[in-house]
Amino acid sequence: MPSRVIAVANCKGGTGKTTTAVNVSAELARRGRRVLLVDLDPQGHAGFGFGVFAAKGDLTAHDFLGEGGHDMARAIRPTRSAGVDVLPADRSFRVRSASEDQRRLSAALATLGERYDTVVIDTPPAAEAPLRAALAAAGGVLIPTQLQHLTYDGLMQLSRLVFETALGVNPTLRDLAIVPVQVDIRMHLQQRILAELLMEFGHERIFRGIRTDVALAEAFGSHCPVHDHRRSSRGARDYDLLAEDVVRFWKI
Ligand SMILES: Nc1ncnc2c1ncn2[C@@H]1O[C@H](COP(=O)(O)OP(=O)(O)OP(=O)(O)O)[C@@H](O)[C@H]1O
Ligand SMILES: [Mg+2]
Repeated sequence: MPSRVIAVANCKGGTGKTTTAVNVSAELARRGRRVLLVDLDPQGHAGFGFGVFAAKGDLTAHDFLGEGGHDMARAIRPTRSAGVDVLPADRSFRVRSASEDQRRLSAALATLGERYDTVVIDTPPAAEAPLRAALAAAGGVLIPTQLQHLTYDGLMQLSRLVFETALGVNPTLRDLAIVPVQVDIRMHLQQRILAELLMEFGHERIFRGIRTDVALAEAFGSHCPVHDHRRSSRGARDYDLLAEDVVRFWKI
């Protein structure tokens, strides 16, 4: 079993989950870690971020939510980024094809043995089978969130789900940490919400934030991590620092 499985999650859509999953994976690999990025969002954006797509009939990450003993090693694709492999999404996945058993993904990851140091799982916002399977497999949850009025909705819904999962199918799920994204700390509203999050979750669980930077969206369009797209950008700098926090917090 890989030493660390980290689910990137938030029950609110468009909070920078995929951007974070892609760039944290790349930054961990730059530090010499062998990383598997599992794309559990049927939008397939985490795979896109590395230029990896599943064709019709290919084995995908979503096949490991259902019945049937597929070989996970066969579904894994290399990327142009050394150290990062991707398990792509099934863009035609339907929730009803998932098994009732949330632990299937976790069991399939265990078959990979020591092949990876870290598994990063990108998840969709809905509290459905893919997110539940990711939490059942994870040791930690990284929650990207904007500092806005609606921040708490997705965060609280996810915290409840994490708590339920830890009490039920996955007692090893413990550590939850938050990364503020699209940060512009000159805005008073953002300062206030950040202060509230620090009070609520504690300083050690709030990682250094990611500033707003168009280079992150451009990198996605170029199918590569921001470090490879524009190494001098704010986005590249911020994800470099975030990786430091991730490594320290989860002892990766
Ligand atoms: N720090 C940032 N600065 C500027 N744009 C960003 C930043 N982070 C993310 N974005 C952009 O915001 C949009 C949403 O980001 P992303 O796709 O990572 O969110 P998501 O949480 O994965 O969304 P979904 O819930 O649909 O899966 C994308 O267009 C992305 O390029
Ligand atoms: Mg996404």
